[in-house]
Amino acid sequence: MRAISIIQEEHRNLWRIIMSIDAVADELDEGGKADVEFFNAVFDYIESFVDEAHHHKEDGYLFRLMRVRSERANSIIERLEAEHRNAPLNLKFLRQQLAENAERGLGNSDFTEALRNYTKALRSHIHTEERDLMPMAKDVLTEADWQEIDTAFLDNKDPLFGDQAKAEFRELYHRIATLAPDSIGLGGQTGGELKTRTAPGVSTEVLLKVSAMESCYGKIKALKGIDLEVRRGETVALVGANGAGKTTFLRTLSGVQPMSAGSISFEGEDISRLGPDGRVKRGICQSPEGRQVFGPLSIEDNLRLGAYTQPKAQVEGDLEKIYAMFPVLKEKRKLPAGTLSGGQQQMLAIGRALMGRPKMLLLDEPSMGLAPLLVEEVFNVVRSLKSQGMTILLVEQNAFAALGIADRGYVLETGNVTLTGTGQELISNEQVRAAYLGM
Ligand SMILES: Nc1ncnc2c1ncn2[C@@H]1O[C@H](COP(=O)(O)OP(=O)(O)OP(=O)(O)O)[C@@H](O)[C@H]1O
Ligand SMILES: [Mg+2]
Repeated sequence: MRAISIIQEEHRNLWRIIMSIDAVADELDEGGKADVEFFNAVFDYIESFVDEAHHHKEDGYLFRLMRVRSERANSIIERLEAEHRNAPLNLKFLRQQLAENAERGLGNSDFTEALRNYTKALRSHIHTEERDLMPMAKDVLTEADWQEIDTAFLDNKDPLFGDQAKAEFRELYHRIATLAPDSIGLGGQTGGELKTRTAPGVSTEVLLKVSAMESCYGKIKALKGIDLEVRRGETVALVGANGAGKTTFLRTLSGVQPMSAGSISFEGEDISRLGPDGRVKRGICQSPEGRQVFGPLSIEDNLRLGAYTQPKAQVEGDLEKIYAMFPVLKEKRKLPAGTLSGGQQQMLAIGRALMGRPKMLLLDEPSMGLAPLLVEEVFNVVRSLKSQGMTILLVEQNAFAALGIADRGYVLETGNVTLTGTGQELISNEQVRAAYLGM
């Protein structure tokens, strides 16, 4: 049933876009001007991702097999299939409205009405799939059916859903995030600070203090003034949609991405001008997005690399500690890291960061691309590090799991922090639930 969580994740991305479209429609009604580039990016994403890839998989596998197993499913599926068939036409209509709106320069009302009809239909479509169809699918489909469906959804060489296509979709999504009006972002619409308490077991000593951090890629400002604190012993989650700036934040913190304004203090010392290795030496160690282990090097050499700033005398002992934590790495220690599975590579990336004896561990989407069971395992590792007193800054799209183990969390949207609070407060926050948890 892994296909279900893949579909739900895709729905969540789409839901954020729907919320953004509605919010932009509100602005247009108040006299704003339609940003053609932004809407084209949105329409391109929906066209190539939702209409061609997502629908195609649902029709070809999930729906087809459900029709075989359940008569009751038939009428629902007929409606959903019809909506899939009409989707390209609806999008074409929106593109026409956008073009006319730009040409005539009159009011926006025709266009915003078309936008609202469109998002309304999409919301209802997603609701039907999640509330009616999914529970039914869990009931009626056999194990063999799920195997067939899951294989299709997990096929990494698939021209529509494979790794390369996924990278393209991610780029398209990033483009929307870049072009979205500042007032909108891609998530909840208004920010604010929830009251925060210090969790038990966490000291009140501020270990990391980031103030007004900015960072740019050329003319694009990816971070627009981030304030964030991490106390010693705390697990802090940074959550947000694709392209929000999570990775940029971690890279700026590690010093591999230039900071154009703001300051970073660590253990009370200003480290803003320190290079990346100076920061590793101070104890800021990162497990990067996409793991980035060195494939041809052995597992053990990968781990040793993590200790390059450390005195030689402690390396052997530290290796043993990592091996005790991840026995599979010990078993395979002489093999090239590229032979490990995705989940094992993630363990290796975390192990490599731990070899630097971090005072603060930065984890960039450790659960990305892993099957649900492995996701669980990665979060267990994070939990266990936390219980040993490690200070952790955890970046995740998997907001529910991350906020679930975090003492506190920050919601990042297109380069701004829009909400902070304890993990539990954020999980129960309406906007966070709608935007990030798909509820
Ligand atoms: N190398 C780059 N050159 C230009 N723009 C970039 C580059 N890397 C990121 N960006 C842009 O900066 C913004 C923030 O991207 P970033 O990768 O930090 O987001 P993220 O929150 O980590 O997203 P994801 O969840 O997809 O990992 C996006 O708009 C992205 O397109
Ligand atoms: Mg990222």
